[in-house]
Amino acid sequence: MHREIRFAHLSDWHATTLAGGGLDRFRGKRISGWASWALNRRRHHDPAILDAAIRDVHAQSVDRILVTGDLTHISLPQEFRVAAGQLARLGSPEEVFLIPGNHDCYVRTDPENAWDHWAPYLRGAASSSLPSPLAPLASPSPEDGRAPTYADYPTLRIHDRLAIIGLCSSIPTPIFVAGGELGAQQLERLEALLSATGDAGYFRVLMIHHPIAAGTEPARRALWDGEALCGVLARTGAELVLHGHKHRRRLRTVPGPRADVPIVGVPSTSEVGSKPDKQAQYHVYTVREEAGGAFTLGAEIRGYDAAQGAFVPVSESLFG
Ligand SMILES: [Fe+2]
Repeated sequence: MHREIRFAHLSDWHATTLAGGGLDRFRGKRISGWASWALNRRRHHDPAILDAAIRDVHAQSVDRILVTGDLTHISLPQEFRVAAGQLARLGSPEEVFLIPGNHDCYVRTDPENAWDHWAPYLRGAASSSLPSPLAPLASPSPEDGRAPTYADYPTLRIHDRLAIIGLCSSIPTPIFVAGGELGAQQLERLEALLSATGDAGYFRVLMIHHPIAAGTEPARRALWDGEALCGVLARTGAELVLHGHKHRRRLRTVPGPRADVPIVGVPSTSEVGSKPDKQAQYHVYTVREEAGGAFTLGAEIRGYDAAQGAFVPVSESLFG
């Protein structure tokens, strides 16, 4: 009998308000982020569309929900609290696996006022819950109740034959810069994780906020060590890489050792559609394990239909 695993990919919902929030809104880099929200971004993201997406995800019978960050605008404490409620409505920490985006790391903050609000959604599996060959590769377990820090990434969760690896490319950057970086330590641990999960025959899904292919982004918005990440993928492969950040659907591939690695960017979950290719969407993947341990991958696009106030199937093929 064939086994099927279904999972959804959502990203960049930015469905918080910066109205109120005290003087912190007007300090340092947050001033430009607040101005951008007040003049522009607040008209692009609608919490009601996120609510419609959450209802729709619940109707899709998915096993897991993967979220590639940017739930906030300028990393205010009030935004982390609101987004924690949105995550709770989306699913349990066991079902939902989250990585932070650059807006969730907009300025340096105390973890208690930031990622700790999302701790159970951000954490990878504890080493004690992983199969023995993978246990030594688990990310360090933060103290109870704390979120992973940048130094704790990559995170790893296993669901059935799925190995889901979370990367953190989000670091505080200067004003008008939205790039990201993994760093040598994270890349080294990622290579070990991809090798071990590949050798063990898992379907490997990599989550990263930034697009990874070199030359697809201006330098100020790019993943600065994307070439090094592509080098890791060329040696280890991966079955699927998921990212956000662009608020647009993107499909690219990079070479792996045996097959090209598909890299898929998903639009925002809450975008009202200021441009046709930016209207809210999310993706649902189905991984089938065939006899002999091979996998096949299917994908569906679900997009927001303003007339119905609901997400509906989009009759385009994600993989062309
Ligand atoms: Fe982003």
